[in-house]
Amino acid sequence: MKAHVVLAHPEPLSFNGHLASLARRTFEERGWSVTVSDLYAMGFDPSERAAFYRNLQNSERFDTQSEQRHAAMNGTIPAEVQAEIGRLDQADLVILQYPMWWHMPPAILKGWFDRVFVYGEVYKSDVRFDKGRFQGKKAMLSLTVATSAETYAFNGRSGDIDLMLWPVNFTLAYVGFGVLQPFVAYGVESGLRYSSSGEIEERLQQIQANYVDRLQTIEEEATIPFNCLDEWGADGRIKASAPAHSPFIRHREHLEID
Ligand SMILES: Cc1cc2nc3c(=O)[nH]c(=O)nc-3n(C[C@H](O)[C@H](O)[C@H](O)COP(=O)(O)O)c2cc1C
Repeated sequence: MKAHVVLAHPEPLSFNGHLASLARRTFEERGWSVTVSDLYAMGFDPSERAAFYRNLQNSERFDTQSEQRHAAMNGTIPAEVQAEIGRLDQADLVILQYPMWWHMPPAILKGWFDRVFVYGEVYKSDVRFDKGRFQGKKAMLSLTVATSAETYAFNGRSGDIDLMLWPVNFTLAYVGFGVLQPFVAYGVESGLRYSSSGEIEERLQQIQANYVDRLQTIEEEATIPFNCLDEWGADGRIKASAPAHSPFIRHREHLEID
């Protein structure tokens, strides 16, 4: 089995950097092969723009999807993007390792999606979701947050973690990955501290033990359900007969908030 870890953290000695190394070690001890894209260390530029493309289709006005498709058709996808797609193609499991920053992934990871999930290469209208390029592979978010699991509960002050992660998971599902439940490391306090050093140290030890435990059997886990391509009507809405899996895509009778 092959795992690929995408690390989005500026500091290799951070807890995020540590969890990426821990995943690598754990999988290698299990006989898997592992690749890591440390986006900051690679100097990955996340700001998609015309300058990345030689042989532009339209040099007067940059249209991102048109130029991505043009590059895919002409073999001019930027080398660093092609290399990332190659690593995803090789992997059975992809882990995105990042800290929660302003309720979202760091910009470098958002830009990785913008650049690497190339229109015309990674997705097309009929190559998405259950028919996506990466079907048969699994992906998982592994993230750290500063506050407790309670604050990320359905009624917590940091916001419901399942809802907050839905757009990122949906993006992975869009390109065909089976998406595993995220591994969320709660209470990873750094500069802004609510707990004593002893409490934090004990918590971090527990998180590492839980992570290693989970990685031992991760290939057996079930994926989060998302709708399939044929569950959409011609109007782009979910068919009445199709199951709804989240508040992001629901049936009319589920519109009320309790
Ligand atoms: C720019 C920035 C924004 C942050 N936003 C959040 C946030 O929205 N929610 C949260 O729980 N923690 C937030 N934090 C705290 C980080 O999530 C926390 O420091 C990190 O997960 C610790 O992991 P590390 O030691 O590997 O950096 C933020 C930190 C930074 C630097």
